[in-house]
Amino acid sequence: MPTLAIIGAQWGDEGKGKITDALTAKADVVVRFQGGNNAGHTIQFGQKKYAFHLLPSGSLHPEKVNVLANGMVIDPLALLSEFRLLDREAISTKNILVSNRAHVVMPFHRDLDAFEEHQKLNRIGTTLKGIGPTYQDKIGRRGLRMVDFLNDGRFRRYLKETLPYVHRVLGDYLAKPYNENELFERMSGARQRLAQHIADTSLFLNQALEEGKKILFEGAQGTMLCLDHGTYPYVTSSSPTAASIPLGVGMAPKHINRVLAITKAYSTRVGEGPMVSQIEGPLEAHIRDVGHEFGTTTGRARRIGYFDAVALRHAHRINGFSHLAITLLDVLTGIHPLKIVVGYRHQGELLDAFPASTDVLEACEMVTIELPGFDEDISKVTTYEALPENAKAYVEKISALSNIPLGIVSVGPDRAQTLYLEDNLFEG
Ligand code: IMP
Repeated sequence: MPTLAIIGAQWGDEGKGKITDALTAKADVVVRFQGGNNAGHTIQFGQKKYAFHLLPSGSLHPEKVNVLANGMVIDPLALLSEFRLLDREAISTKNILVSNRAHVVMPFHRDLDAFEEHQKLNRIGTTLKGIGPTYQDKIGRRGLRMVDFLNDGRFRRYLKETLPYVHRVLGDYLAKPYNENELFERMSGARQRLAQHIADTSLFLNQALEEGKKILFEGAQGTMLCLDHGTYPYVTSSSPTAASIPLGVGMAPKHINRVLAITKAYSTRVGEGPMVSQIEGPLEAHIRDVGHEFGTTTGRARRIGYFDAVALRHAHRINGFSHLAITLLDVLTGIHPLKIVVGYRHQGELLDAFPASTDVLEACEMVTIELPGFDEDISKVTTYEALPENAKAYVEKISALSNIPLGIVSVGPDRAQTLYLEDNLFEG
């Protein structure tokens, strides 16, 4: 019953979509278990680039089953437009399943998100997709699940009860109040299309396990944005860690066999919040330019930093990574020297763990080591052994500092630009 979890070890955007897509060939089922269309995965296949926000990255492989599980929050209008994208490419959506227990993001959740950002003294810099307010409604036991969204009576009752509350909270912030009938109508196309895809995905996944199917769990965002273990409050409203998989899919924890950490060869972050490894100046501009470091969902310029081994050790403690996938190594060509953050210093003292306090984090200075860089274009290298010695020394140093064995090194956006150090990540 092999399973593999793909988890972001940084602040999201680590290249999880590409790695999931590359590993999908070895899987039967691909599952998203948290978050919603705050995520953005760009997958390059041949000359074409696909951007998905909700659909699992295995959706380009129509023979695989792709599951949007109960831990997700799903905007039906956004999902409908992703279905249409696949329709246009004549890629079947037949094998896409959506959990009947997943919560629905309504248009007013996006307004609530914008309103909260507007109100907050400390802006989070959210993606404004309504993710936080939908999870708040879920926890507040006033949310809408897919199973009820499909039911006319339930959906109408939900709108009747919820709209007055939304209007009270938003007040004049809304240019025009929502109309129950209009909103009901606006959702009808999505409800019709989704009806064929809604299922008890926990039952499906447990059955798939019994049949010995290989299941890939695709995390969205990254561990440092975890509601519990990230840089709170500058986090997302779910837990993008391996611990959230059993709950988010309806499966026993013992089935989470292997956890692959995805990390860039440097650091990036979008939105507000502390980032000890952040750099500014020409190197920042160079990495942003070469790495195309602009958000897939919001288009915002990402903040850039040196590779942060302190954050990776923190993420490893929480997730228990079995292997490391280091992405975007090619972006570091021509940078001399290469630096890695190996410690945080606070008021002259070296910290031994990632601090909880935002104030402490903001006052920390990075402690770095330097390694020699490399000048070769590595984007066409097809085996790990063929990488320049300095490139290998760099990724091996990251592996040694975090005590996680290397599994994959990625040297470009295409599936073919993936170097495997471990053949069987599901069981190896
Ligand atoms: P939210 O998830 O839209 O509520 O945003 C909360 C924080 O998480 C913000 O700093 C976002 O920029 C960040 N965030 C959310 N989703 C992603 C992602 O997929 N990649 C990177 N950052 C993200």
